[in-house]
Amino acid sequence: MPPDASGRPDHGVAGPATVIPALLLVGCGRMGSALLSGWEAEGLAASVIIEPSASGTPIGPHLRVTDARDVPADIRPAAVILAIKPQMADQAMAAIAPLIGDAVVLSIMAGRTLDGLRSALPGAAGIVRAMPNMPAAIGRGISVAVAEPGVSQARRDLCDRLLRAAGSVAWVEDEALLDPVTAVSGSGPAYVFLLAELLEAAGRAQGLPEALARQLARETVSGAGALLAASPEDAADLRRAVTSPGGTTQAALAVLMADAAWPRAMTEAVRAATERSRALAS
Ligand SMILES: NC(=O)c1ccc[n+]([C@@H]2O[C@H](COP(=O)([O-])OP(=O)(O)OC[C@H]3O[C@@H](n4cnc5c(N)ncnc54)[C@H](OP(=O)(O)O)[C@@H]3O)[C@@H](O)[C@H]2O)c1
Repeated sequence: MPPDASGRPDHGVAGPATVIPALLLVGCGRMGSALLSGWEAEGLAASVIIEPSASGTPIGPHLRVTDARDVPADIRPAAVILAIKPQMADQAMAAIAPLIGDAVVLSIMAGRTLDGLRSALPGAAGIVRAMPNMPAAIGRGISVAVAEPGVSQARRDLCDRLLRAAGSVAWVEDEALLDPVTAVSGSGPAYVFLLAELLEAAGRAQGLPEALARQLARETVSGAGALLAASPEDAADLRRAVTSPGGTTQAALAVLMADAAWPRAMTEAVRAATERSRALAS
């Protein structure tokens, strides 16, 4: 077995083809539990979950504990997944550092850089950082991942498989891209929910009953998203296909697509989020 960047032998951590090997999941809130349900659907081996608000009782084959001190010392996870809030990270990483062994560390924490993670976990065999997004909760997320130099292909493949259980995965070599990634796909679902909110309010302003405005906005945003997902066409082509010259859609798009309207607002919004992501990085 070839050693990887750590100089340790690579134990083929990707495991058998149909079963996800044992993991240590640190933090089982919204994103951690979304990932966990995807892994369980694919056949996750008995794993350990650290979650302060859990009962501490085993669930299925997994051991849930509320504190890292309660993790059995002999666990050998193939991957340690950090799904805690960035502000909890220092304390949590100090607690789990002795448990990592040969595992690859997969962090989904916003703003925690590979350098910062490496400083906190100097003994880790390899570290991968990823930015997932909220539709991971229904297996429709997209994650962008970056590995520190020298992480073995087997360890990358395992991380890819773990993230793919929650949707699509793209890998980048340049970690700096994680800031605009965060601004586009990490924060992006909020922009779409805002669109639904605004469409509902605008419908009400034109006299629609409240319940009907809500139903129309929700179904339109989710239906158009599903159509986009099902279609090989570009978003711009789909937009043109529903825009008749001189019709109602064109009247609305003339307002929305004016330079000072959505084109500028979206560019500024993504720029602001990218800058905020850079400012928060540690
Ligand atoms: N939600 C998103 O859309 C999204 C998107 C991309 C990336 N992320 C990243 O995913 C991470 C988790 O976000 P989230 O939305 O899932 O947050 P969340 O729902 O608050 O989940 C975090 C969980 O970690 C637990 N926790 C706190 N301290 C811990 C410790 N020392 N050890 C183990 N678990 C601990 C928390 O328990 P308590 O509640 O009891 O404190 C909570 O259940 C964040 O770093 C975020 O940047 C989230």
